[in-house]
Amino acid sequence: MNHNFDRLSDRRGSGCFKYDALKMIYGRDDLIPLWVADMDFPVAPAIREALQKRLDHGIFGYNLRLDGFYEAVLNWVDKQYGLKATRDWILSSPGVMPAISLAVSVFTKPGEGVLIQTPVYRPFHNAVTDQGRTLLSSPLVLRDGRYEIDFEDFERQLRQARLFILCSPHNPVGRLWSEEELRRMGRLCQRHGVLVISDEIHADLVYEGKKAISIAALEDFADNTVCCVSPAKSFNLAGLASAVVLVKDAARRELLSAAISRYHLYMGNSFGIDAMIAAYRDADDWLLELLAYLDGNRKFLLETFAEELPQLKMHKPEATYLAWIDFRGLDLPDAAISDLLVNKARLALDPGLKFGDEGSGFQRLNFACPRSLLHEAVARLKQAFNEV
Ligand SMILES: Cc1ncc(COP(=O)(O)O)c(C=O)c1O
Repeated sequence: MNHNFDRLSDRRGSGCFKYDALKMIYGRDDLIPLWVADMDFPVAPAIREALQKRLDHGIFGYNLRLDGFYEAVLNWVDKQYGLKATRDWILSSPGVMPAISLAVSVFTKPGEGVLIQTPVYRPFHNAVTDQGRTLLSSPLVLRDGRYEIDFEDFERQLRQARLFILCSPHNPVGRLWSEEELRRMGRLCQRHGVLVISDEIHADLVYEGKKAISIAALEDFADNTVCCVSPAKSFNLAGLASAVVLVKDAARRELLSAAISRYHLYMGNSFGIDAMIAAYRDADDWLLELLAYLDGNRKFLLETFAEELPQLKMHKPEATYLAWIDFRGLDLPDAAISDLLVNKARLALDPGLKFGDEGSGFQRLNFACPRSLLHEAVARLKQAFNEV
């Protein structure tokens, strides 16, 4: 390994949400933060160099994305997700969530149905309900430790929907959708005239040498997909607020582009643009090592939960650095589970209810941190269980 992911970084006092908001969110700040989805690792050297170069330039006026930006994005989505796009498909956004919220506002009218697959990332729910659209849910079904789509229910919900927000891979349940599952979802959406917003922000974080496929890379689904891509998770760049949206259909692209322009969201920031180019062009080796390290964390947690914390069940994530942990064996209400974690084990996880009612009894654990923190977290958890 050329990169040292074991090194502990002191993030406190840097204005970092994961650490500095602990007191505000959990009521105390002596917790190991294993919640909000960013990583406790410094960025790839190639990204740091690009940012240093940009900083040394010293002028941060209005931006224009040059050819190198488009080349980097197009090569990446082809190489990583099999998506053969062209430059004219690309729109820029300050994040994936702003793009999804805009897409909901542009492609649906108040009251119309937007489908999600719960439990799922909370802002998906809010993007729908905050804009007066009707939230439709097709809950994922847990079968033998793996979440699956109930296609009958999915199709039933699609009949009332205008839009489907796909989380691919899925946060929090960690599913890497198979080609077959993507094809089935894509065909059903086509059949029922439902546009797909595909959030692929976790698509670089896939284990066991597998790769995520973009739904827009299959059949003719690109015509019916708005695809959101970002280096924010895999290269730890969330604070640089940069994402891209790929839209093949020209009419839909124009509508979304007009909305992005209306709110003046196209500019991007100088650092975000250069970091994205460096991530997608020069940081492959770092990403591979990161994945190997995260895989080690994943294995550590799976083994430890199975052997030392049999009251809990961890579902093996096929993608993402998020573990979805089943606490239902404790037979405690959600508030009591959270209280145990925060006030006894001194750990900050994300309560499952954040992701929808189906998340009751679950907690999400972010394992993108030096392994020593996970050792400490497990020790605290075991001690808390012994005490109660
Ligand atoms: C599925 C998913 N989409 C979007 C986001 C946020 O993306 P952005 O910060 O680019 O808005 C996250 C962050 O955790 C996420 O998990």
